[in-house]
Amino acid sequence: MPPSTAHLPAGRIAALRQAESERFVTAHPQSLALARAAQAHYLFGVPLHWMRDWPSPATLFVREAQGVTLHCADGLRYADFCLGDTGAMFGHSPPPLAEAIAQQAARGLTCMLPAVNAVAVGEGLQRVFGLPRWQMALTASDANRFVLRWARAVTQRPQLLVFDGCYHGAVDDTLVDLDPATGRTLPRPSVLGQVHNHAAFTRVVPFNDLAALKAALAQGDVACLLAEPALTNFGLVPPAPGFWAAARALCRQHGALFVCDETHTISTALGGHARAHTLEPDFLVVGKAVAGGLPCAVYGFTEDMAARMAAAKDAAPEGHSGIGTTLSGNALTLAALEAALNHLHTEASYRHMLALAARLEQSLRERIARAGMPWTVTRLGARMELQFMPETPQNAQDVRDRAQSELEALTHLFMLNRGVLLTPFHSMLLVSPATCDADADRLLQVFDELLVALSVG
Ligand SMILES: Cc1ncc(COP(=O)(O)O)c(C=O)c1O
Repeated sequence: MPPSTAHLPAGRIAALRQAESERFVTAHPQSLALARAAQAHYLFGVPLHWMRDWPSPATLFVREAQGVTLHCADGLRYADFCLGDTGAMFGHSPPPLAEAIAQQAARGLTCMLPAVNAVAVGEGLQRVFGLPRWQMALTASDANRFVLRWARAVTQRPQLLVFDGCYHGAVDDTLVDLDPATGRTLPRPSVLGQVHNHAAFTRVVPFNDLAALKAALAQGDVACLLAEPALTNFGLVPPAPGFWAAARALCRQHGALFVCDETHTISTALGGHARAHTLEPDFLVVGKAVAGGLPCAVYGFTEDMAARMAAAKDAAPEGHSGIGTTLSGNALTLAALEAALNHLHTEASYRHMLALAARLEQSLRERIARAGMPWTVTRLGARMELQFMPETPQNAQDVRDRAQSELEALTHLFMLNRGVLLTPFHSMLLVSPATCDADADRLLQVFDELLVALSVG
């Protein structure tokens, strides 16, 4: 298969990227000044080092974000399709959420006791996601970490099973790769300060590969399969038809729990992919957008699991469980979560998101076909990925083999310079209830300009 940039004149992408970098510098004097000043206070000049992983030549500083409109330090306006990499999937500061947070902020932030709305929040979680019992954390990374402890505790099994290309947050056990030559687990080389050998307790198999899954489960020592319903952090790789029904059956057959990480795939439908496709997880993890972007994550589980978790806790000696953090389930978070469950996780939100995302997907596909580019668009509900490869990938190795990182970086910067924000690292775009036709039209217009720029010699 020819690389999907082989038809472009040599050097075109690099030349365009250089021109776009210069354009960014000229248009963003305030961001540049802030970026220089911030070097004195922050590692790499940013509060979190990932913020320098965007392909712009300097950090873009944000003045304000509301709905899907973001204004940078230089007063320029952007239609935001990154949406905080899903944290702001329902739009930035939706009014019912901002109001609930402001009201609770005057009534106590954290007490290490449940606020009186805890019951209403539990009812809301069951209504939206279907599972009856819940616990809270502040980040999806934490929620995944805690669920892994519960899963190992209740099954008394050591092994974790994940898919190659997975990302479940800063969870040590999951930061591993698959060695394609041997099928063995490898530590992810980019992970800093790693001393524990997670290869000893984590098995990795390719996504959409039932034979490999079966072989990994057959040894009878897997506590749980931790998986997103579709890979969303290594491009967007959807499940093959029938994959999950068979995978779920294999987990049951071999006594392994199924932990479904819906942190990104809640873009699929109201209540997430697992609910829409009846995946029947033992545990369900949702973070990021679950409380509209205020730090919050939740994990839900079945009654059977709750009984097994209670038994494991009762059987353990008094003392630290290794599960939980002081601020988890705090009053401010509960207030935000209640408002989000009532006003954001709604049929109306998803009706709008899914319809507009479908139109955008179709329009991008038409443009790609007209321009004769060997690219595709893969969509999962409200999120889609512009993929610089001819077909939707089947697993992480497909993505590794075909990735076009230079073209992705150019696309990102080209769009940013024209007022459209895509997610960095891969070209993901997410449609929120606040995204309107004009935002989609703006994106399509800029995409047209990119296609022209790439084709003009
Ligand atoms: C599927 C998935 N799970 C968990 C996480 C971790 O979320 P957080 O960084 O908010 O802890 C991420 C982050 O991107 C994610 O994509």
